[in-house]
Amino acid sequence: MGSRISGVGMYAPPRIMSNKDLEKLVETSDEWIRDRTGIEERRVVKQGTPTSDIGVEAAKRALDDAGISPDAVDIIIVATLTPDMLFPSTACFVQTKLRARNAYAMDISAACSGFIYALSVADALIRAGRGKTALVIGAEIISTILDYTDRNTCILFGDGAGAVVLTECPDGEGLLSCHTYSDGDLWGYLHGPGGGTVAAGAPDGEDGPKRVITMSGNEVFKHAVTRMGEVSLEALAVNGFTKDDVDLFIPHQANLRIIKSVGKRVGIPEERVFINLSRYGNTSAASIPIALAEAREQGRCKSGALVLMAAFGGGLTWGSALVRM
Ligand SMILES: CC(C)(COP(=O)(O)OP(=O)(O)OC[C@H]1O[C@@H](n2cnc3c(N)ncnc32)[C@H](O)[C@@H]1OP(=O)(O)O)[C@@H](O)C(=O)NCCC(=O)NCCS
Repeated sequence: MGSRISGVGMYAPPRIMSNKDLEKLVETSDEWIRDRTGIEERRVVKQGTPTSDIGVEAAKRALDDAGISPDAVDIIIVATLTPDMLFPSTACFVQTKLRARNAYAMDISAACSGFIYALSVADALIRAGRGKTALVIGAEIISTILDYTDRNTCILFGDGAGAVVLTECPDGEGLLSCHTYSDGDLWGYLHGPGGGTVAAGAPDGEDGPKRVITMSGNEVFKHAVTRMGEVSLEALAVNGFTKDDVDLFIPHQANLRIIKSVGKRVGIPEERVFINLSRYGNTSAASIPIALAEAREQGRCKSGALVLMAAFGGGLTWGSALVRM
């Protein structure tokens, strides 16, 4: 047995933060941000919104799309680097809010590669007989871990959630392969130092380090292009496909220049590369399922389409998934 994507859904909070809004917070310009990243605006939740709330919204839409009730879900996996709490998992909060009483739930921590990792784990669990139906969610409220005085990072990210329903199917259909990698030696290029045991601070949290994203942009950029390119080509080679077989390529939406460079490396022309970065920025683990849901709505990944997805993120981590929709 294998697994297929039988439903997709997304949720973007209504509040828009434009590049012009950021000009009021840091020394930057709309022109610089568009030029260097391709981002025009991003979404930001109302303060105090938990990640599970937006995950649930995306999940409900994915379940509706699949025509499946929450009772029928066996596995819930949430990929996030901005969980509701240290524990329990955000997936447990999603479970109770959805009333998915028959599921077991857990989070995956693989930063912006989290959705590909979660897809890989859910698929493996279904193949191992540990459930027939999985809800795989990427949900992030990155605005809670951004330093809005650091122009290197605060311009890049946005809040949002996306979800897919995976259901059992014959082997060789649906999700054809997942490839996941990490290199912990490179953790320092992209990390959030606060909130863990390394820099725990006092239990009341007052003297801990700031819980914000710290990044070496240029190093991350180079690795993103190389690794996403490699892991995408690997997915095609392992399955006996070429770049010409791909109907839609959905790379992690981090920077337009990264997306274009990876597209070139893999050899997929721009009209078959999905890009919605300008409207959402980098939503980390949510970026691929949001893109997938929008692509589906736009009729760009109909039933039978071959869709290649690739991501990279803190860890460093990276991965790809090849799916027959
Ligand atoms: C962060 C990133 C946009 C920076 O773009 P860049 O073209 O590499 O820019 P540089 O870091 O070389 O900086 C160039 C100049 O712009 C300045 N700059 C940086 N951010 C700026 C901003 N928001 N507005 C205006 N100027 C800015 C720098 O200070 C530097 O100035 P200097 O030349 O006077 O020193 C780019 O490196 C990137 O996207 N990296 C990948 C990050 C990523 O995807 N992270 C998430 C991974 S999941």
